[in-house]
Amino acid sequence: MNPITHVAIIMDGNGRWGLKYKNNRNSGHKAGLLTVEKVIKETVKQKIKFLTLYTFSTENWKRPVYEINYLFQLLENFLTKKINLLIKNKIRLKIIGNKKAFTKKTKKLLDVAEKKTFMKDNVLQINLALNYGSKDELINAIKNLSKSKLNINHKNLEKYLYTNKIPDPDLLIRTGNTNRLSNFLLWQIAYTDIFFVKKLWPDFNENDYTKVLNKFRKLKRNFGQI
Ligand code: IPE
Ligand code: IPE
Ligand code: MG
Repeated sequence: MNPITHVAIIMDGNGRWGLKYKNNRNSGHKAGLLTVEKVIKETVKQKIKFLTLYTFSTENWKRPVYEINYLFQLLENFLTKKINLLIKNKIRLKIIGNKKAFTKKTKKLLDVAEKKTFMKDNVLQINLALNYGSKDELINAIKNLSKSKLNINHKNLEKYLYTNKIPDPDLLIRTGNTNRLSNFLLWQIAYTDIFFVKKLWPDFNENDYTKVLNKFRKLKRNFGQI
């Protein structure tokens, strides 16, 4: 059985779900947040240490302003309302992505959430990928590495990624019946097993999640060997 230390998820399909059931995309984002809560609970139950959630990509700025505003409103509400619950359950929040683009208010909330949930004995670390783009992350890392006196090698490049000190994901799940990576963790998933799920994110549940985890546990991982 393969152990699982890190699960990464591309939570896709909110907009289509919203249009299908409520005639607007934003209600899909709201419903998707309930799935986030379910998945966090199950991740803790399964004793998995890291969960990375693709929440907003560098390309998502191309969406209509009302949708972007709604997404950040949801995020702010979540951070405000759930912070104590996270602390109580020993869940650490870390943001991966470029924080510079956020409003002062959002940035403050994110900084406070990261600070308040920082603990040495956390049971789970959630990495929220926000304004995250793998290509930006790599360019940034290469720039900083070349400014440093360090040799250019895998280990040193990884020091400059947002995911520094976070082990690579064991598996990546993408919901929403779309088989692409959309600029997510391109370096980090070199040997990650990828699972594409047909269900839209708001329809994904603990049972679907557990099924994928169990499927992964039974895989033969070669890492180039035989
Ligand atoms: C993913 O769902 C959530 C975010 C990108 C924030 P989408 O909003 O992309 O949903 P679809 O793919 O349009 O259905
Ligand atoms: C990826 O989904 C980003 C997030 C889930 C946050 P998108 O819906 O933005 O991806 P594309 O545009 O379909 O590739
Ligand atoms: Mg999408």
